[in-house]
Amino acid sequence: MRTQVAIIGGGPSGLLLSQLLHKRGIDTVVLERKTKDYVLSRIRAGVLEVGFVNLMREAGVAERMDEECFVHDGTVISRDNEQFGINFKELTGSHVVVYGQTEVTRDLYAAREAMDGKIIYEVEGVVIHGADGDAPCVTYEKDGTEHRIDCDFVAGCDGFHGVSRQTIPLTLRKEYEKVYPFGWLGILSETPPVHEELIYASSERGFALCSMRNENLSRYYIQCSLSDSPDDWTDAAFWEELKRRIPEEAAERLVTGPSIEKSIAPLRSFVTEPMRWGRLFLCGDAAHIVPPTGAKGLNTAASDIHYLYHGLVQHYLDKDDEGIERYSERALARIWKAERFSWWMTTLLHRFPDQSEFDLRIQAAEVAFLRDNRAAQTVLAENYVGLPY
Ligand code: APR
Ligand code: PHB
Repeated sequence: MRTQVAIIGGGPSGLLLSQLLHKRGIDTVVLERKTKDYVLSRIRAGVLEVGFVNLMREAGVAERMDEECFVHDGTVISRDNEQFGINFKELTGSHVVVYGQTEVTRDLYAAREAMDGKIIYEVEGVVIHGADGDAPCVTYEKDGTEHRIDCDFVAGCDGFHGVSRQTIPLTLRKEYEKVYPFGWLGILSETPPVHEELIYASSERGFALCSMRNENLSRYYIQCSLSDSPDDWTDAAFWEELKRRIPEEAAERLVTGPSIEKSIAPLRSFVTEPMRWGRLFLCGDAAHIVPPTGAKGLNTAASDIHYLYHGLVQHYLDKDDEGIERYSERALARIWKAERFSWWMTTLLHRFPDQSEFDLRIQAAEVAFLRDNRAAQTVLAENYVGLPY
């Protein structure tokens, strides 16, 4: 088989790139290790920057999102029992959109399938060959048979545990990592959200987040120990702990119910450099991870896709390689800013096991400064709604 761009990974990064390139007449094949149902069973964050929404529109897959999403003009921050709002609209003129990542992925699959896009599921043993030469190819196994795809470029959209990043020789690759000493226990419940905006809550018992998917589907998280397992937490224990971490007024309004999903995610910051090796480009989680505080996971993937998409269009339609040559530099410049923001929000709002009394006072002072200072709020708001591409 031959294609122009072989895309490894059928998560949101790979699917969005495939759909955008298809719209410009550039042929792709997507190789996915799992089944479509498995990919759609993964629950991820649900806050989208306007930049991401615009890419979905450009890809022609925003119809359902535009109809069903919720526009959020601000968010709430609390520390212990005190809360204040950050008004994105007033501070930046922009907003974010709440629409689940699972729904984004579902819409992208529907669009690719409607256009007979080539997505090959349940592939095994993907190997990328000759990425540093002129004629790369990808081999894989499907149903016990070996296949080969010849291509011009390979997009490594295969997430943190994929093969693409590992294909870049260790001597050329540098990885930066910070692992946080706690996780997030998250539940999904068919209950109305406690508030119309998200609440990021810092408390002496640890962090908590009140989020949502729609009017009758809420997503809540609490900071937990890395040694906890979801089975250690009954629904009742979860609700009890959540109520103790959010402002009293919100705790009184909170509607509880059975969880329909419960899981623990560790928190990590990670970046690999460079994001390009010859004709191989890394995108999304394959190249970087952020802790979820600030919801930048999918949004950082989106800016990579933006830069790569434009670079490939420039290559094929304008015969100009400037965009692909500068891909890594451009993508990383924005990624590091999102890494800083996610690290900062995590540090500001969580309790760390080794925090001294001094550290706690500094943290409290920083939250108070944010509460009282418009410039500090603007910094948060500009980063939260998304820095320009
Ligand atoms: N071969 C083929 N497919 C693979 C391989 C492989 N060797 N390894 C991983 N994959 C697939 C995974 O099964 C997954 O469906 O690549 C896909 C990667 O998807 P994601 O992990 O969702 O990563 P990405 O598309 O970059 O999305 C970034 O989604 O994962 C969240 O937190 C992340 O919000 C961020 C966004
Ligand atoms: C979510 O809705 O799952 C969510 C929202 C905001 C975050 C993280 C997760 O910062």
